[in-house]
Amino acid sequence: MLNEKVASLLNEQINKELYSAYLYLDFSLFYDSKGLDGYANWYKIQAQEERDHAMLILEYLKNNGEKITLEAVAKPDKTPNTLMDPLKMALEHEQYVTSLINNIYGEAYSVKDFRTMQFLDWFVKEQLEEEKNSEDMITKMELFGSDSKGLYMLDSEFAARVYSAPSLTL
Ligand code: FEO
Repeated sequence: MLNEKVASLLNEQINKELYSAYLYLDFSLFYDSKGLDGYANWYKIQAQEERDHAMLILEYLKNNGEKITLEAVAKPDKTPNTLMDPLKMALEHEQYVTSLINNIYGEAYSVKDFRTMQFLDWFVKEQLEEEKNSEDMITKMELFGSDSKGLYMLDSEFAARVYSAPSLTL
């Protein structure tokens, strides 16, 4: 069994990751409605990754004999208007998720829960990648997004993203 607070925060994180999946699915639909299939593809795959994150935490709790409570997933609460909006919203959201992961890590550290710290190491690295991806997408949109040819090239780039299962095994 895990420390009660650590287990509770991990349980909550399942919900946060599923919310992230929901949010990115919403962004995918937004870009779909704008005719940008590549961006829509990128966020659809991102939604799959977020679901993977939730499942990894769920499996970790299960493996540790913890009871898991699934709460309602909130409606996506961000309304993008411009093509840049989802990109900036995603960065802000990922920075928030990083703070949540760091908080759980801090709790695990305080009770010498080395097992959870080791489990979360993957998420700490993943958050760096997620923030960097978000920042890069903003930069590219700033540089090339106002030109129709540039936007077409960017959309083609993001269309090439393919889903791959997480590298973490439990
Ligand atoms: Fe599951 Fe985007 O962090």
